[in-house]
Amino acid sequence: MHKSTTAFLASPHIPPENEVYLFVSKITSKNSRNNLIKTLQAVQNRYGYLPEAGLKAISQFMNIPLSRVYGVATFYHQFKLDPPGKFVIRVCMGTACHAKGNMNNYEFLRLLLGLGSNKHTTEDGVFSLESARCFGCCSLAPVIMIMSSDGFYKRLYGHVTSMLLKKIINEYRVKVLKEVTVHVGHAKRNSVR
Ligand code: FES
Repeated sequence: MHKSTTAFLASPHIPPENEVYLFVSKITSKNSRNNLIKTLQAVQNRYGYLPEAGLKAISQFMNIPLSRVYGVATFYHQFKLDPPGKFVIRVCMGTACHAKGNMNNYEFLRLLLGLGSNKHTTEDGVFSLESARCFGCCSLAPVIMIMSSDGFYKRLYGHVTSMLLKKIINEYRVKVLKEVTVHVGHAKRNSVR
């Protein structure tokens, strides 16, 4: 399978600039410098990350230098500058899951997915990794949740171990490859029509 084909199918949704500008214009007012963090949070809640257009729009509508907006966005760990992958893996760091070794599971996933420091999304755009608060099912600790970046698909996995994580990641990779195969099949059929 050609890597670029996989990357194409898994490529993240980048919101159109004019839509982002419109959204930011609604949640800001000119010269209101005090709500920068709240505004960044609102943009990230809307898009799952901070698109470049969002940072520029915030700078413009709030009359704050772009370098300062970037400075705050990169200073706080909560903010993400990369678009999320096709599947977002959320590792619970609540008390029960932490006690049952989810920090090790998180580090194992970082290695398995080849994520370097400050990287949350795999090169091919298939997976993003993040920590999360208690999901409310502590009896299943340690727990992870995998969801699609559009939020339509969600699945919880309990009692996870490194062996199980390997198996789960492989299953999702196969799922993506199957989609690629179907997509390429359709493209070929359409091209000979
Ligand atoms: S602590 Fe992980 S589900 Fe509650």
